[in-house]
Amino acid sequence: MSSTPTRITIRRPDDWHLHVRDGKMLEAVLPYTASVFGRAILMPNLVPPVRTTRDAVAYRARVLAALPSGARFTPLMTCYVTDDTDPDDVARGFGEGVLAAAKLYPANATTNSAAGVTDYRRIMRVLERMEKIDMPFLMHGEHVDDETDIFDREAVFIDRHLSKWVKQFPGLRMVLEHVSSKTGVDFVAGAAPQVGGTITPYHLRLTRTDWLGSGLKPMMYAMPVIKTAADRAALRKAATSGAPCYFLGTDSAPHPLARKVAVNGVPGIFNAPVALSTYAEVFEAEGALVKLDAFASLNGPKHYRLPPNEDAITLEKSPWTAPVEIKVAGADERALVYRGGETIAWRLVE
Ligand code: NCD
Ligand code: ZN
Repeated sequence: MSSTPTRITIRRPDDWHLHVRDGKMLEAVLPYTASVFGRAILMPNLVPPVRTTRDAVAYRARVLAALPSGARFTPLMTCYVTDDTDPDDVARGFGEGVLAAAKLYPANATTNSAAGVTDYRRIMRVLERMEKIDMPFLMHGEHVDDETDIFDREAVFIDRHLSKWVKQFPGLRMVLEHVSSKTGVDFVAGAAPQVGGTITPYHLRLTRTDWLGSGLKPMMYAMPVIKTAADRAALRKAATSGAPCYFLGTDSAPHPLARKVAVNGVPGIFNAPVALSTYAEVFEAEGALVKLDAFASLNGPKHYRLPPNEDAITLEKSPWTAPVEIKVAGADERALVYRGGETIAWRLVE
């Protein structure tokens, strides 16, 4: 039996799905990502959303201003697709290097998605244009209506919409964000390389029994919801396979404590402080630490047609305790950290 290494060095990773919010929350959470990841796809679901190239230019400036001094981190901006998105504006933003991708939120699928798409016929011209200019299309891939069970939303989205779009727009590069089910994993594998999928640390670790089976755990509530042990097994197998269609996307999504832990709590899990360590634990448990580099640092850039980062980081097996919460300066606010207070096996070494 070969013993697992206690140190591993990989290319600097990127986070292909991240929420850093705005204002004081942005300042509080951005350093956790910027100290680890080279780049991150910043999700546009602010209130109001980042809808246009102009919005993205302004948001990028606020993000850059919030970076700790000396940070070497590049935010990759996205725009939020609505019923009224103008294909010319999306194309201009991509052409000017402002937008890295456009993001679909089905209306009311998740946090801050009220302005999302209500009728997909209205975005067909946007998709046509994106296909033409080879601009990535990112999807919150859930079908939401009163008849669709919440655990089936991803599968129904694939069946009713995504499986048609891959044929209708064969040149459109897409990402099924935060893949959460075996159905999603299998669909991405079958539609690669046209479709890639991001996988979060929490979908790799949790089952719905963890979330609901011994007390209701708000820190395990996110969209798409955590599913079964069989779904988790499929996700772990996919991520640790090294297959180029799967890549790292934390979906780290901070919320003020009072909104997160409430009678009507919001979905979203703030995991940036523990994300890379959590992935390392999962890859170690699956005997696949050698595949971490592909998943975290190589597959994402390949899908986005960007070069991988040039420098490297080292992780060491050396336990530490995750902070329970972070303070949001000047706002009298806090955000709970996923796995806060737990002992985490791997840490980043300087
Ligand atoms: C995200 C958020 O809070 O912005 N929430 C979540 O449950 N994952 C939005 C999203 O990615 O769905
Ligand atoms: Zn998200």
